[in-house]
Amino acid sequence: MEKKSKMQAEKHLTGTLVLSVFTAVLGFFQYGYSLGVINAPQKVIEAHYARVLGIIPMDSTVPSTVPGTVPGTVPSTRAWGSTEGMLTPPEDPAASPHVLTMFWSLSVSVFAIGGMVSSFTVGWIGDRLGRVKAMLVVNVLSIVGNLLMGLAKLGPSHILIIAGRAITGLYCGLSSGLVPMYVSEVSPTALRGALGTLHQLAIVTGILISQVLGLDFLLGNDEMWPLLLGLSGVAALLQFFLLLLCPESPRYLYIKLGKVEEAKKSLKRLRGNCDPMKEIAEMEKEKQEAASEKKVSIGQLFTSSKYRQAVIVALMVQISQQFSGINAIFYYSTNIFERAGVDQPVYATIGVGVVNTVFTVISVFLVEKAGRRSLFLAGLMGMLLSAVAMTVGLVLLSQFAWMSYVSMIAIFLFVIFFEVGPGPIPWFIVAELFSQGPRPAAIAIAGFCNWACNFIVGMCFQYIADLCGSYVFVIFAVLLLVFLLFAYLKVPETKGKSFEEIAAVFRRKKLPAKTMTELQELRGGEVA
Ligand code: GLC
Repeated sequence: MEKKSKMQAEKHLTGTLVLSVFTAVLGFFQYGYSLGVINAPQKVIEAHYARVLGIIPMDSTVPSTVPGTVPGTVPSTRAWGSTEGMLTPPEDPAASPHVLTMFWSLSVSVFAIGGMVSSFTVGWIGDRLGRVKAMLVVNVLSIVGNLLMGLAKLGPSHILIIAGRAITGLYCGLSSGLVPMYVSEVSPTALRGALGTLHQLAIVTGILISQVLGLDFLLGNDEMWPLLLGLSGVAALLQFFLLLLCPESPRYLYIKLGKVEEAKKSLKRLRGNCDPMKEIAEMEKEKQEAASEKKVSIGQLFTSSKYRQAVIVALMVQISQQFSGINAIFYYSTNIFERAGVDQPVYATIGVGVVNTVFTVISVFLVEKAGRRSLFLAGLMGMLLSAVAMTVGLVLLSQFAWMSYVSMIAIFLFVIFFEVGPGPIPWFIVAELFSQGPRPAAIAIAGFCNWACNFIVGMCFQYIADLCGSYVFVIFAVLLLVFLLFAYLKVPETKGKSFEEIAAVFRRKKLPAKTMTELQELRGGEVA
């Protein structure tokens, strides 16, 4: 049986399919790159901002006597919660180091505002232009955004970077909906799961590459940082040209537009010599199902009690993913490692990227074996313990130097547990929680929620870290505990279940005895 499905999968893996999926996930690669790129060069870019804002003279370097600074940089590495090492007095009183923190936090997090705004329009643009044309058009945003960042030194750098990151954010928000839509629609059933997990893999690869290129002897230095920030424009250009070679989604052509012949042609290109009629028949069934189920608007999703439980679960998994604090690590880990007394923080950051990538690959296999619910719970639990260990390490660092190892290992474990469940699962579980009618609206609000929380973490972490000092991860530990309890009580297992069975769980309908027992076991004896 397994052998048969493997053979079936191999038969379906044509050059055109590989090209199409590779091209599409270049969008997620850019998402990962933009997430990670802002981390390593924080100090050099902040120093540049300080010069542009008149906090330090244009030709000045920071005196090396300022604790924790590298000559020529702004001491962003000051202890959280202290003003020691802040540059005073500013030449322009309005431009204090607090202004610098504000501009930096905004440069980091405006990316997520872009994503938040555009993620709402994914369904509309994907249906209106078609999947391929939509990806092609939105790519222009990425090229423009990256150009602004790449040329940032030619104008007011902080403004150009903020604008560039906002525009790339718009691109990534659209991409984070359009890409999974296209990939799931061009993939044959036997490969859908495996190809679906490539999204998270593309993100983590993007993060890793941006971290490596951010090394100061590569592009993370005073001269090259604009190139570092703008470089994902190359992936955008590549995606732009490759998209011209990709076939439109046959499902879009058949189900949305009713273009049977074009759908067949596209299928032939994607599947090679396979007979397209079987899939056409499947699409016909899907078309009829879609026609029988009313499209549900975002408003109805919130007002109808039928969807309430599922909506709460869909939103909570997104909130858990982002408020677990993962992006505090990906945006600010270099800084965090410095706080933790790690000698080579930039290399530790790259280590995080490597571990992140390796465990994403492992989780691809784990998701197939264990269920979503158990992995999600195990991941949250592990992250909670790691956050506690991280706090212990940071708090006791002044007494025991070896505590820096505790913090470092805790950060690595934090990331590993994230990739076990809370990382990849939210990206695909929403589609599983809803049937055809409410699915697009649910994906839109879940995407919006994910981006909104991402923004809040990016914007607030630096301030909260300044306020709470070494105790900053206590906040995430408390949140993780809340998410763990919620997931234990409310998140159902979706692996191997039909949409009807999942919907029935939320509608409190009477389930077939077998499903009932399974759910009871999963919930420790209680069914919602
Ligand atoms: C997930 C999150 C993203 C995070 C990444 C880290 O894809 O959505 O915000 O940066 O995982 O691997």
